[in-house]
Amino acid sequence: MLQTVIIVNGSINSGKSTVAQKLANIISDCVFIEGDELGNHDSDLEKWIPTVLQAIVQHARELDCQNIFVAFPLRHEDWEYLQQHLNADLICVTLSPPMKVALSTRNSRQLENWERKRIQEMYNDGYHERDFSYLIHDNAQETPEETAHFIAQFLTKKLKKPLDQCMKKFEFPSFRTERLILREIIEADAPSYEKNFATYDVISELNREVPWPYPKGGVLEYMRTEIFPKQGKDAWVWGIVLKDKPNEIIGSIGLWKEGSPENRGFWLAKKFWGQGIMTEAVIPVMNYAFDVIGFDKLTFANAAGNKRSRRIKEKTGARLIRLEPAEFVNSDYKQREIWELTKQEWYKSQGRNC
Ligand SMILES: CC(C)(COP(=O)(O)OP(=O)(O)OC[C@H]1O[C@@H](n2cnc3c(N)ncnc32)[C@H](O)[C@@H]1OP(=O)(O)O)[C@@H](O)C(=O)NCCC(=O)NCCS
Repeated sequence: MLQTVIIVNGSINSGKSTVAQKLANIISDCVFIEGDELGNHDSDLEKWIPTVLQAIVQHARELDCQNIFVAFPLRHEDWEYLQQHLNADLICVTLSPPMKVALSTRNSRQLENWERKRIQEMYNDGYHERDFSYLIHDNAQETPEETAHFIAQFLTKKLKKPLDQCMKKFEFPSFRTERLILREIIEADAPSYEKNFATYDVISELNREVPWPYPKGGVLEYMRTEIFPKQGKDAWVWGIVLKDKPNEIIGSIGLWKEGSPENRGFWLAKKFWGQGIMTEAVIPVMNYAFDVIGFDKLTFANAAGNKRSRRIKEKTGARLIRLEPAEFVNSDYKQREIWELTKQEWYKSQGRNC
């Protein structure tokens, strides 16, 4: 099958690289190439750009994969060059946030003066509305994951395959404990997940970012935008079910590579509290975090006053390191406790050798 080269085009700070990288994470058999890192660097764009385009063509020739995502801004002549020289299906996707958004601080990227000037030139030159684009997309209001998922859906039409065949196949690990199964969450779980999660008792203990009242259908949306695109790459989220009722999600436990600062979160339906269920669920997940994913240290957080959550950390070897101001859905909570658990501490708490 002919290789597909997908150029993610747009001005500086339109999100090209972040989104192209996320796309390469969710589409199967592909690599991501950062255009800015190619070619013979030269402050004269007229000299540098042709060397980048040659490098793209060269990479496409050499890389043995079906799809190649390249983040690079394109002019008409660049597009024509690629069309002429690539022996591949060529697709351009243009990210087109309004100029004022591209000029703002996004994902904490502080723009230098020359970049601000260049962004304005790029918008004047029409990089944000190239007419050879397969898709021109305003991503101003979206997270990079949301944009990548949206584009992936569009691309599957062009690639003429259903989305699930284009998505990377990842064997999500499941665990069995004495009473529980921890398994991958699927769309069909949304109703039981929402029924058990969207209650004030559960949500009031969570970070202020979780909406309350919880919107109807919010869980499915959350699965599609936050869980599925990151599963097994930047995050791992398990649904918790009872062995004798494997279709009802009664809780969930997740790990995140990039903590904020916490790397783990969990919730359980209120009717199951106080039976040691979360303590049981935490064990295989911590083993997986340290033994398979390769964390050396995990950070946890809970509202100061959330005694159940605190107790789980105490029981599983974590160390309280500080108290700091924070906001929760229940505004009576004003502070959070930050905890750490190293691989050595975890092994020690489980009586395992390092
Ligand atoms: C936190 C949560 C997951 C705990 O689940 P769980 O299955 O009830 O937890 P466990 O039974 O494994 O452990 C809870 C521990 O807290 C103890 N506990 C329960 N109520 C308590 C209270 N009011 N004061 C002090 N300790 C309490 C339990 O006795 C148990 O400790 P023990 O085993 O030493 O007896 C659940 O309460 C929940 O989902 N809460 C809402 C969401 C939430 O807070 N998520 C965590 C955000 S950081």
